[in-house]
Amino acid sequence: MSTPDDTLAALRGRRVVLCVTGGISAYKAVEVCRRLVDAGAHVAPVLTDDAQRFVGAVTFSALASEPARTSLFDAAEPIPHTRLGQQADLIVVAPATAKVIGKYAHGISDDLVSATLLATRAPVLVAPAMHTEMWEHPAVVDNLATLRARGVHVIDPEEGRLAGGDIGAGRLAAPERIVEAAARVVARDGDLTGLRVVVTAGGTREPIDPVRYIGNRSSGKMGFAIANAAAARGADVVVVATVRRPAHPRVRVEPVDTAEQMAAATLAAAATADAVVMAAAVADFRPKAAADTKIKKADGVPEIVLEPTPDILALLGERKRADQYLVGFAAETDDVRANAASKLSAKRVDLMVGNDVRSGDSGFEVDTNRAVLLDAHGGVDEPGLVTKVALADLILDRVRDARRPHEGAHA
Ligand code: PMT
Repeated sequence: MSTPDDTLAALRGRRVVLCVTGGISAYKAVEVCRRLVDAGAHVAPVLTDDAQRFVGAVTFSALASEPARTSLFDAAEPIPHTRLGQQADLIVVAPATAKVIGKYAHGISDDLVSATLLATRAPVLVAPAMHTEMWEHPAVVDNLATLRARGVHVIDPEEGRLAGGDIGAGRLAAPERIVEAAARVVARDGDLTGLRVVVTAGGTREPIDPVRYIGNRSSGKMGFAIANAAAARGADVVVVATVRRPAHPRVRVEPVDTAEQMAAATLAAAATADAVVMAAAVADFRPKAAADTKIKKADGVPEIVLEPTPDILALLGERKRADQYLVGFAAETDDVRANAASKLSAKRVDLMVGNDVRSGDSGFEVDTNRAVLLDAHGGVDEPGLVTKVALADLILDRVRDARRPHEGAHA
């Protein structure tokens, strides 16, 4: 288990561009700057005009590794935005207002912060801070979903006191959390480069007739979180999916509907994959025969005879190469650990993610998840309630560590 100090070690000697935008919490970015410098990072601060209404550039100049920049048109440096972005190992935006999030999602670059965000290939960590109404506005939710799918890392704000004495969600994450997240992003940057990862996502639809099907509540959020995170970490990813969701440019989406189609696409892609993650909710049974035309209500209640679908995970387990890492999920409403453990051995997987789907904040459709990670060597990890994005990274850490067993430790 790594300590916070081990985690921060990843920042040592790294060039971090700290972008500060205009919110009441801009003063906390001073603490973020100090902590990044203390961790050994080389910090280049950039402030928007709005940020300077809340906090002075001179404060950052005094604490950071180089003077704060505030303009695209700095006389001493004709093109600071490209130089900053090209040389960065990481860009942190803290606080990130709804405005900068919107500009970044839509490719608008009209100041040094937004231009630097577009003129870089370095990983980006965004720490939003705004009033609850803005944080929950569909425009902001959509813009963040777009950024996440492109591989941008987001550290969600906390609940608490906001500007003007209001209380609610939208308060900037604590500086130490932002710096720890920054270190994790740096440690994971490119760590899956060269790996081919196959992920399944969504619930299969087994037709009853041309308009009706047997399905389930899976939204594909968990599967796409894994696919997008793997791509952001450098992997080439195929996601076999029954749903459409925003996908990272390095993710190839194979659309399917039924368990049969998912089996064919997944087994084909798995033949050359380094890792396969079965996050999809695959129907265990399907109607033996689907009607060719819509079943008429007037004909009475139909009798639907079911038959088993192919067990894709079990087939993957049978065909698994020695150098291939196989991850299964077990969606459970009771005895999560015991049930996941029996599926771990029955399906010959390397890692079984026992997913607690009892409560409203975990499992199907929501953005958070509670799971127990059981590995084939008897290892057990229970991260508690975390975002699906965070759980995705924990699962992918296992994939990475299996490829680099000598390094073992988690970032
Ligand atoms: O999509 P979301 O809304 O984000 O929800 C996420 C999730 C709850 C669907 C996901 O986290 C999850 O738990 N997925 C597995 C759901 C499931 O089908 O569990 P299971 O216990 O029935 O199946 C065990 C494993 O076998 C799973 O990896 C499943 O993909 C696989 N399976 C099941 C049946 C089948 N015919 N073939 C399979 O490969």
